[in-house]
Amino acid sequence: MKADDLEITIVFDNYPGKPKLTPLWGFAAFVQLPDQTILFDTGSNGPVLLKNIETLGLNLNDVNSLFISHPHWDHIGGADAVIEQNPHLHLFVPASLSKHLIHDVKKQVREVTVINQQAAQLFDHVYSTGTMNEEYIGEQAMIIDTTAGLVVITGCAHPGIVAIAQKARQILDREILLLMGGFHLLNESPPTIQQVIRSLQQASVRHVCPTHCTGDLAKAMFKESFAERYIEGGVGTRVSLP
Ligand SMILES: [Fe+2]
Ligand SMILES: [Fe+2]
Repeated sequence: MKADDLEITIVFDNYPGKPKLTPLWGFAAFVQLPDQTILFDTGSNGPVLLKNIETLGLNLNDVNSLFISHPHWDHIGGADAVIEQNPHLHLFVPASLSKHLIHDVKKQVREVTVINQQAAQLFDHVYSTGTMNEEYIGEQAMIIDTTAGLVVITGCAHPGIVAIAQKARQILDREILLLMGGFHLLNESPPTIQQVIRSLQQASVRHVCPTHCTGDLAKAMFKESFAERYIEGGVGTRVSLP
């Protein structure tokens, strides 16, 4: 059985979205499934994250797990504030997170699971790619297996957005319905971005929602290439399935 009922809300992003929400550098998303509510990353600033969550009508106390993509400040900066308000969390952290930080946070939350290079199932329909690229900036992406295809959420995509998409396909052998999050193309040239777009289209990625560190140029190029299959990302963007 696949996940049929899924709602993802971007609660922290440097791209502006709805009024009354504060955009700041970083990324975080609320992932709501029938039996799980997961917070993906925490942005760079706790008070702004909590305020955005509240303004969006979401409740941090409904969250039962926190997924950390990679140890950069713009993804873990709000973690203290999140844990302070909700210490009942199960954390899924990449093996690249500081051992000292893991040691300390274990005393503050319900449970901590360190994800190594191996892909892992976290819950029904929810997977981690495993910590990719551990020698550089080890990062994990989240995969949600839905009836219509895979939904893949990335933090910064430091291992490469194409490598992440390919790994997700390898793990679950299904097409990617939606690829969303930071694609880390902000310093790339138009030919490189075009190559990335081609590779993702060849990998049968249906919809994209590139935001955070994707960069203005890459966002515009994705918008042109994916047309009606492009979703504008920003703080407050909500994607629902079915
Ligand atoms: Fe980032
Ligand atoms: Fe990063």
